[in-house]
Amino acid sequence: MTELALRGGKPAVSKNLAIRWPVLGGQERAAALEVLESGVLCGSNAPQMKALEAEFARFVGAKHCLAANSGTAALHMAVAASGMAPGEEVITSAFTYPASALAILHHNAVPVFADIDPLTFNIDPTRIEERITPRTRALMPVHIHGLPCDMDAINAIARRRGLVVIEDAAQAHGATYRSRQAGVLGDMAAFSLNATKNLPCGEGGLFVTNDERFLGAASALRVLGQDRDDAPFDAEYPLDSEAETEFAGVGWMYLTQEIPAAIARVQLRRLNDSNRNAAANAAVLGARLSRLAGVVPPSCPPDRTHVYHKYRVRVDPRALGLSIPPRRLRDRVVAALRAEGVEAKLWLGKPVPEMPFLKARAGYGHGCPWTCHGSEVRYADGEYPATSALLDDSFVVGSQTYPIYPQPRRLMEQYADAFEKVMARAADLPDPRER
Ligand SMILES: Cc1ncc(COP(=O)(O)O)c(C=O)c1O
Repeated sequence: MTELALRGGKPAVSKNLAIRWPVLGGQERAAALEVLESGVLCGSNAPQMKALEAEFARFVGAKHCLAANSGTAALHMAVAASGMAPGEEVITSAFTYPASALAILHHNAVPVFADIDPLTFNIDPTRIEERITPRTRALMPVHIHGLPCDMDAINAIARRRGLVVIEDAAQAHGATYRSRQAGVLGDMAAFSLNATKNLPCGEGGLFVTNDERFLGAASALRVLGQDRDDAPFDAEYPLDSEAETEFAGVGWMYLTQEIPAAIARVQLRRLNDSNRNAAANAAVLGARLSRLAGVVPPSCPPDRTHVYHKYRVRVDPRALGLSIPPRRLRDRVVAALRAEGVEAKLWLGKPVPEMPFLKARAGYGHGCPWTCHGSEVRYADGEYPATSALLDDSFVVGSQTYPIYPQPRRLMEQYADAFEKVMARAADLPDPRER
């Protein structure tokens, strides 16, 4: 048996095989140059932005799309468009990126969390109803890591209780649930176009809906509260509009820009191929890792497709006959894999409701907005056992700079070789805290 790289052996993974994300080539350069040559950098009806909106709406099968300058902005547009009043509650997953909760807080609404299904890592629909109160206005399922939530179960609750459903699809471009795309599985959806995402442009977001009322509200919010500006784009006067817009409500400045929009359009043309590569890479890893005692690769229910924005692996000390806490085994495995050349990362350390930004009751500005509105919601530790267990016993294969979606199959085989090598010595891996 070859020695662990951690102990001076030859690493299992070749250097320089991994492809760095995002993959930007001649087409992105040409698209950015075209924008510079046009002299139009931004605008309510600017051509790259409008084209991206039309193309992404077609891609997900939605009637409408609005491009925004971040995924958080697009999520906030959805929260606001739902007609949320201060102090109303939105139920979301305890295992998500803080941006899901922040988009709710940005509207003086209150995030309420439900624990996850330990197999999909998504919000467990059976834990939603117990969180509903007379203040609940919306559900925000998060398709975490690129796997859609159980949307039929979630929509059934929403219909029964009169709630709006906002998909946080920030990580799930192109993923499907029962043959329909993430983005058209609820009332509204938000995607992120951040550089780490499967559809990257730098910073950006996309708001999607089939409902004209939500579209109108989100569109006004996006540009400082102004009424929709439907005046056609005038290439001679790109910075002027003859539209008689009024500022009917309070809004934000969430418009995107032409260079990121142009880059996103190029990336969108490659998204299906890239998602197919992610699935093929996940299949290679899944086939080999599932044969290893103590390693649990991610699963995907048969009614869905996963785009593997993150490929999260669990470890189980009991399956190896080890009586150590899962976190300790996880940390040892991660250190050994990294030494072998595997990109192994932790992503998030706590359930969102246990993070300091929700615990600090002082909040920001004139005090915490969610306590100002008489909210009774308390964020206590230990209430999300499935999320806590996941964060203790798992890690992500692939970093954000080297995620699994663009990688060659050979690298995945080498990652699997590294897992085999490391797990064969699981009982006596060095502890990184003792080195
Ligand atoms: C689940 C989730 N929601 C929302 C966001 C926010 O997107 P952005 O970073 O584009 O604002 C992210 C970004 O990482 C995310 O992962």
